[in-house]
Amino acid sequence: MQGDSIHVLMIEDDLAYVRLIEELLKESSRVRFELSHVNRLSAAVQLLNTEGFDVVLLDLNLPDSWGFDTFERVHSQLPSVPVVVLTGLEDEELGIKAAQKGGYYLSKGDIAGRLLIRTIQHAIERTRLMADLETAYQKFYHLSAHLQELREEERKRIAGELHDELGGLLTTMKIEFLTTLHRLGDYQGALTELKESLTTLIDRGIDAVQRISADLRPHILDQLGLIPAIEWHLKEFQKRTGIQCHWVLCEGEIPLEKDRALAVFRIVQEALTNVARHAQASRVTVEVSRNEGAMTLKVEDNGVGFNEEKANDPHSFGLIGIQERVLYVKGQVTIKSVPQKGTTVTATIPL
Ligand SMILES: Nc1ncnc2c1ncn2[C@@H]1O[C@H](COP(=O)(O)OP(=O)(O)OP(=O)(O)O)[C@@H](O)[C@H]1O
Ligand SMILES: [Mg+2]
Repeated sequence: MQGDSIHVLMIEDDLAYVRLIEELLKESSRVRFELSHVNRLSAAVQLLNTEGFDVVLLDLNLPDSWGFDTFERVHSQLPSVPVVVLTGLEDEELGIKAAQKGGYYLSKGDIAGRLLIRTIQHAIERTRLMADLETAYQKFYHLSAHLQELREEERKRIAGELHDELGGLLTTMKIEFLTTLHRLGDYQGALTELKESLTTLIDRGIDAVQRISADLRPHILDQLGLIPAIEWHLKEFQKRTGIQCHWVLCEGEIPLEKDRALAVFRIVQEALTNVARHAQASRVTVEVSRNEGAMTLKVEDNGVGFNEEKANDPHSFGLIGIQERVLYVKGQVTIKSVPQKGTTVTATIPL
């Protein structure tokens, strides 16, 4: 829009109708309209690429394009320019269809100056708002992805230090201790008891360090890949919680970049943590399958379930985290829960 003038491209092969629109636009006292006109889609496509328009008024039936296809071709050519479809009475359905796909429509039958002008202004304003919304969403998406990355970096660093420093230290302690005891000889009865209790304690320390570091950042994921990591996690989960785990995991490795595999692993982890914390389930099933273009992950429990609205509660950080991660890998997720029947989290991720 330059100053107060709105640049309109009209794509219409009925010249009388073009003249009518021209007259109606002149009625506006507040805004000045500059109308360009073409009668073929091919000419419109050329013009859209070279000139800046604020809005397109479109007849769907042209000499070189017919029906809804005309809208789709114009809209895909320049999605940032609002398209107002001018429909006849017989094809108003197509106008509604255009509105569903981000367009606008006006019925040629009941067109009047003010309605036309209001529709054009509304279309321009709404398109601008949608663009702002998209920009805000993109910022949010990148910020969220960035925060996830930072968090994973931090976890990896802590896990590494725990594993290498503390784990190494405890192991050395154990070896030193056992060697010293050996040198003192078995007759030292009192030391035998000490040996047992200290060894048990140190072993527990080593286990704890390994568990915490693996939870923070499973080495197995980096070394062996997603499927072995999920299987390992399920075995650990079963051991720790006593909840019966069943799993059906596809053969072979899934071709995912490291950060995306990590995101999928975190989804499994969060879903299972929820099962342990909230579901009171006796059984959980995890399925990972893949076809040509996508992988599907399903985590299903037979627990108490919950009100599905919680998935949209801004305080459900775990469930939001699952949705965020799925968004990050450009997938789709559904969280279905039926009270007293159980919960199923299903994510589909493009490969
Ligand atoms: N598998 C499940 N079975 C039953 N209830 C669940 C399940 N998963 C989630 N919920 C319910 O949904 C709520 C939100 O889950 P969410 O993971 O977002 O948060 P949280 O687990 O309470 O906390 P955190 O932020 O630590 O994950 C839970 O408090 C619980 O009531
Ligand atoms: Mg949770």
